[in-house]
Amino acid sequence: MEENVTILAIESSCDETAAAVVRNGRDVLSNVISSQIALHTLYGGVVPEIASRKHIEKINQVIEQALQEAGVTLQDITAIAVTYGPGLVGALLVGVSEAKAISFATGIPLVGVHHISGHISANYIEHKELEPPFVCLVASGGHSHLVIVRDYGVYEIIGRTRDDAAGEAFDKVARAIGLGYPGGPKIDKLAREGNPDAIVFPRAKVAENKYDFSFSGLKSAVLNYLNGCQMKGEEVCQADVAASFQKAVVDVLVEHSLHAVKAFGYDKFAIAGGVASNSALRGAFETECQKRGIAFYHPSPILCTDNAAMIGAAGYYEYLKGVRHGYDLNAVPNLQL
Ligand code: KG4
Ligand code: ZN
Repeated sequence: MEENVTILAIESSCDETAAAVVRNGRDVLSNVISSQIALHTLYGGVVPEIASRKHIEKINQVIEQALQEAGVTLQDITAIAVTYGPGLVGALLVGVSEAKAISFATGIPLVGVHHISGHISANYIEHKELEPPFVCLVASGGHSHLVIVRDYGVYEIIGRTRDDAAGEAFDKVARAIGLGYPGGPKIDKLAREGNPDAIVFPRAKVAENKYDFSFSGLKSAVLNYLNGCQMKGEEVCQADVAASFQKAVVDVLVEHSLHAVKAFGYDKFAIAGGVASNSALRGAFETECQKRGIAFYHPSPILCTDNAAMIGAAGYYEYLKGVRHGYDLNAVPNLQL
């Protein structure tokens, strides 16, 4: 086996242009993220066309900075890992084209990475001892998956959302109470000043699969509550709405996840994705895992939201397995895990 595998990783699936250099899957030498959030905030959400254009403007300098901060040149790079799906097609194409161009010009092998596999692999970076198998909850703006990680890069999805993703629900409720985009961090902050038991919002169960999620009913319940208050001329306590909504999401995510961990006979559990940086969610998992004797893993917030270090971690294990992509690698917006 090669002594040092140094991966240049590229991520451009949504609204962050990111590049990182990761050694042997777990050592992050650099992790550069150029966020477009401020730009999209003007429109209340990600505008795909703007995202693609910004990625094109930024990608070269983000990669150069990542190499520079890591103290390496392309000659030190063993493989280039790039997110090729799922995500916004125009945004993904920028990263994929860039990776293919560098690979073609230098002969460095190309490894396409699944974005969600990246999110899950973020856990390997700060928990050097973590190895599969374990159960992982992936909760981001586009996905809410409960996954058994059987081996590196080998996943079995046991639960998924039937409608909105958890992050999407945060974003929509935030918009409804006038907090703007992105909603998750804003609700997280405001909820600290509110009473999580002030309003009882529904905790949906899906009859056919107890590990599936559904958040659209909760979102509608919040909207109905806000409309009801408006019609009755009652003042809305934004902090109470934020805290009560957040509690409902956290309760469902914790209950489904930890039920699955026990039912499938595991003793390790990890969280991943943008929503995994939510402070109430982390706190609840911390407490509940301890009670049940489950080891709990979570990435730092900067590794929960979109970044390229996680793509470098996932890409490393794909590289070890011998995965190599050709110059026909394409962006796959609905790539399955
Ligand atoms: O993983 P991510 O950066 O992008 C996707 O792959 O979707 O996740 C972004 C999502 C957004 O919906 C955002 O509102 C949510 O993660 N998010 C949070 C928090 N930080 C980000 N949700 C709840 N609490 C947070 N602190
Ligand atoms: Zn993501």
